[in-house]
Amino acid sequence: MQVSLDGKIIGKFMDIPESKGSGEFFYNVAFGENAHYKHQGWLSGRTTTDDNFTHYKKPELDEQAPEVPAGDFVAEPTGNKYYISIDTSGKLGWAKNTLQYGDTTAEVLEVLTEKVSNAYKAFLREKNISYVIAGKDSLDMELLLQKLNDLFQMDLVMLGGGGVLNWSFIQAGLCDEVSVVIAPAADASATSPSLFDTKEGLTDDTPVSFTLKNVETKEDSTVWLTYDVNNKETNS
Ligand SMILES: NC(=O)c1ccc[n+]([C@@H]2O[C@H](COP(=O)([O-])OP(=O)(O)OC[C@H]3O[C@@H](n4cnc5c(N)ncnc54)[C@H](OP(=O)(O)O)[C@@H]3O)[C@@H](O)[C@H]2O)c1
Repeated sequence: MQVSLDGKIIGKFMDIPESKGSGEFFYNVAFGENAHYKHQGWLSGRTTTDDNFTHYKKPELDEQAPEVPAGDFVAEPTGNKYYISIDTSGKLGWAKNTLQYGDTTAEVLEVLTEKVSNAYKAFLREKNISYVIAGKDSLDMELLLQKLNDLFQMDLVMLGGGGVLNWSFIQAGLCDEVSVVIAPAADASATSPSLFDTKEGLTDDTPVSFTLKNVETKEDSTVWLTYDVNNKETNS
């Protein structure tokens, strides 16, 4: 995650020239040609997807669509990374099955629960968008990780934000490492989401501690911090 000095993950701080270097450094660490993290996919919360890719467009659903086969749907793999989209109610209005982030092309992989309608699953199949069902009414994070491994051969996935998604996996003890690129900038917005955020009904403010693994400083005052997450052995 790229953050401001005050731990915010979006906002005007990103637009000033002094943040450019940290933005590029962040992209290279996570997605560049010689990326530090060689993940096969990155998880994103529904708000992050709507803010950046689907722009709150409603899916066009055919309520009369024939019943789709039960279970998960795995489209033919293309060798690209997966954009693993947490969308437990089936809200996202995807236009196609790939997206572009910088020079990274990714396959969309929707994460649903059993409460998602037949019409939404038919909509995804029609667009050849893979989906997995992980949980009855709410996300079963462990089952999701198991399915990513079993069905998509993923052994390293990145938590790509936002703060609500990040905290849900961390609080569940399912995150090994936190990696933060701090921009030498802030805008003090009181409404921007933070690196970690609670959400009622999903997470709470029970603290978690971290052990520093590495610090790297850059000439432009960017700082890259990596931490072990200390609750992972006890909860996972
Ligand atoms: N600086 C960076 O590196 C960076 C990286 C990524 C994102 N961002 C920014 O972060 C902002 C959004 O962050 P955010 O914290 O507000 O939202 P978020 O984490 O992107 O999305 C939250 C939503 O995702 C779903 N969700 C997440 N975890 C879930 C779980 N464990 N179980 C079930 N559903 C889950 C829920 O969707 P429903 O509401 O549908 O239930 C929840 O309301 C965006 O503006 C984005 O651009 C910044």
